[in-house]
Amino acid sequence: MNFKKNILCIGAGYVGGPTMAVIAAKCPEYKITVVDINEERIRGWNSDQLPIFEPGLHEIIQETRDKNLFFSIDMKKGIEEADIIFVSVNTPTKTFGYGAGMASDLQYWEKTAQQIIEHSEDHKIIVEKSTLPVKTAQAMERILKDNKNHLHFDVISNPEFLAEGSAIKDLMEPDRVLIGSHQTESGLKAAKEIVDIYAHWVPKEKIITTNLWSSELSKLVANAFLAQRISSINSISALCEKTEAEVTEIAYAVGTDSRIGSRFLNASLGFGGSCFKKDILNLVYIARSYGLVEVADYWEAVIKINEYQQERFVTNIIKAMFNTIVDKKIALLGFAFKANTGDTRESPGKYVAKKLLEEKAILSIADPQALDNARSDLSGFDGNVSYEMDPYHAAIDASAIVIVTEWDVFKNLDYTRIFERMKKPAFVFDGRNILNHQMLFKIGFNVYPIGKPALTHF
Ligand code: UDX
Ligand code: UDX
Repeated sequence: MNFKKNILCIGAGYVGGPTMAVIAAKCPEYKITVVDINEERIRGWNSDQLPIFEPGLHEIIQETRDKNLFFSIDMKKGIEEADIIFVSVNTPTKTFGYGAGMASDLQYWEKTAQQIIEHSEDHKIIVEKSTLPVKTAQAMERILKDNKNHLHFDVISNPEFLAEGSAIKDLMEPDRVLIGSHQTESGLKAAKEIVDIYAHWVPKEKIITTNLWSSELSKLVANAFLAQRISSINSISALCEKTEAEVTEIAYAVGTDSRIGSRFLNASLGFGGSCFKKDILNLVYIARSYGLVEVADYWEAVIKINEYQQERFVTNIIKAMFNTIVDKKIALLGFAFKANTGDTRESPGKYVAKKLLEEKAILSIADPQALDNARSDLSGFDGNVSYEMDPYHAAIDASAIVIVTEWDVFKNLDYTRIFERMKKPAFVFDGRNILNHQMLFKIGFNVYPIGKPALTHF
């Protein structure tokens, strides 16, 4: 079949895979190829065991794969054929040298740019899909410019706003699509080509075009604002626990102000995920590098509160259980950083598990999707841990249940049955405020929610 356009995506991860699957489904006249250096990942995308779990993803892949969506490790062929290249490789926080622990590690991005010039015979549009520090496009343009064939490449910023667990829905019905370009004739023409892709299914008024730098920075700012809301409500949850105010009542009362809005005000044991911390650290680093110390400190506090919240959660567990959890079995319900994903990157679950193991507790971890990642996250870490698909099993002989992830299945368990098989006194620490605390208290549990008075039988 002759396709109208060839689109390549480099990086078949949480962002690249689902995004390209949706573009393929919505643009049947385009050929979409996704390449990755990780052969195992590509094998996964070509099998029935997809490398990531997302509701609705499997169906879309079945509909499009080998029709106009292809997964491959052949980077050279992919680049040669492509008119448009989306780059969606990871940009982790640097662990070495200047900016360690703060700045983005752009080595994969740079290697990718080198590969693009090596295999390109004609003009291409390069789209930054990975979240990148503002002004990265400038560095990329310099690398791309230095090519033997004197080719011109247009660099476009098109950050992805999807959230894990709802990736397909977010891609199908985005709040907005952001496309940044140079305001030159060639830049605007390239931006129009990217607009044309999304215009297949996204209403025109939701496609925002800006200059390149605004687009790059908007992505960091959007994540920083979202994380800031969580840290704001989490900071208030600590105050609630001292004052008998209830954080869910406050979130409701405050969130009904239409200027504030009700979403992203769920107090929790802390936010996780691959983006929030990384992107804020990046923002902090950039601000600091321009000498904007106050701006950097302001945003850094969002991360500090998140660390404080996780620490506080663990300390509360230990204190409530009479200051020792040695040899006590604790069931962690959930390990993923949020529900509906198997992803555990920066999950507060990892922090909680490690701290409880340091205190010599016996852990039993149940999660419907994240057990493989949990195993690998805790491998090499001393302690007694078991992994269970069945939460009922995980709770047998446990002294405490800790809700880490807000999976629906945990909301509707038979807690009377669980209580009967637990050691007494039995505790529940609800790190997501998803359970019916009064009911659990009546069953006999000592209940510790986030930002609400504890219900105890002592
Ligand atoms: C990544 C970034 O973390 C995020 O900042 C950005 O917004 C989008 O890309 P994600 O898709 O979640 O997010 O990352 P990951 O699942 O790690 O996928 C990246 C993929 O790129 C991996 O499969 C990796 O093997 C691949 N990769 C990395 C390459 O193909 N080539 C490289 O040189 C480096
Ligand atoms: C986030 C952004 O939402 C998305 O737009 C961006 O593209 C990538 O980063 P993601 O990390 O996948 O997406 O999930 P998100 O739903 O934002 O949740 C992040 C963390 O915050 C999770 O650990 C979640 O449990 C936590 N959270 C979220 C809360 O603790 N309280 C809330 O009210 C909302």
